[in-house]
Amino acid sequence: MLLEEKVGVITGASGDLGFAMAQALGKAGANIVLASRDKRRLEDAAGKIGIEASRVHIVPTDVGDNKQVKFLMKSSFDRFGSIDVLITAAGIQIRKPAVEFTCDEWERVLKVNLSGTFFCCQEAAKYMIPRRRGKIILVSSLTAEIGIPNIAAYVASRGAIRQLTKALAVEWAKFNINVNCIGPGRFLTKMTQDIFANEEVKNSFIRLIPMGRVGVPDDLVGITVFLASEASNYITGQSFYVDGGWLAAGGNPLG
Ligand SMILES: NC(=O)c1ccc[n+]([C@@H]2O[C@H](COP(=O)([O-])OP(=O)(O)OC[C@H]3O[C@@H](n4cnc5c(N)ncnc54)[C@H](OP(=O)(O)O)[C@@H]3O)[C@@H](O)[C@H]2O)c1
Repeated sequence: MLLEEKVGVITGASGDLGFAMAQALGKAGANIVLASRDKRRLEDAAGKIGIEASRVHIVPTDVGDNKQVKFLMKSSFDRFGSIDVLITAAGIQIRKPAVEFTCDEWERVLKVNLSGTFFCCQEAAKYMIPRRRGKIILVSSLTAEIGIPNIAAYVASRGAIRQLTKALAVEWAKFNINVNCIGPGRFLTKMTQDIFANEEVKNSFIRLIPMGRVGVPDDLVGITVFLASEASNYITGQSFYVDGGWLAAGGNPLG
């Protein structure tokens, strides 16, 4: 129980990856706060998480709304007495050619994926700094390193998260707050299920992945617990890609 008595706040916790990361913290002993917009989906997630109900708190939150983000952190602190870990897994994607993006669509993606992430970090840090302790895990994507067509705003937001990780890590190291980033490769989740419904497209991705399969949410469990725990105390500002070897292969189709 590496995370016993710790408290973790997870945004995007009703989503497939956020849920797996929240469950990882919970099963490692942490009390967990699940946040995303839809209350019913959060209740479902809390019901499925498999730890005592008393260790799970849900706070419906739109990370694009600063007041709601402040409330999320206050409510977490009031419920469990600290915020030790923050995971920012809330995210959206809009798919269309770059020339067709409206201002509203562009801003919507950046507001959730970048600004929402930043303000969650800022608010959580206000509780971590006085205690001189904290672990922040941002979620980016392979698209922090490579371009993929038709998701320009998403790619821009994920590249920015990689840099935000470094900026916050450097600024908050003196407070003993570690800020790291997990970049999942291609995972089968609600966000990608329509893409993977097409076998041909799915296989074209699998040909780029040396391990020969797309990721499943549980592939994030080990790195999540590691980065949330004291085992990673001397690691900060890093991005870790969980991608079955995709980046290492440099985008070359295999076999
Ligand atoms: N799946 C992949 O292949 C993949 C690869 C790389 C990176 N990622 C990243 O991993 C993260 C999780 O993705 P996923 O695949 O698990 O997708 P998902 O199943 O669609 O989950 C997205 C989560 O974000 C929440 N969310 C969306 N907008 C929000 C907002 N404004 N405020 C608060 N929560 C919000 C959703 O809940 P509500 O809609 O109820 O708010 C949901 O819980 C995303 O940031 C994504 O960019 C995914």
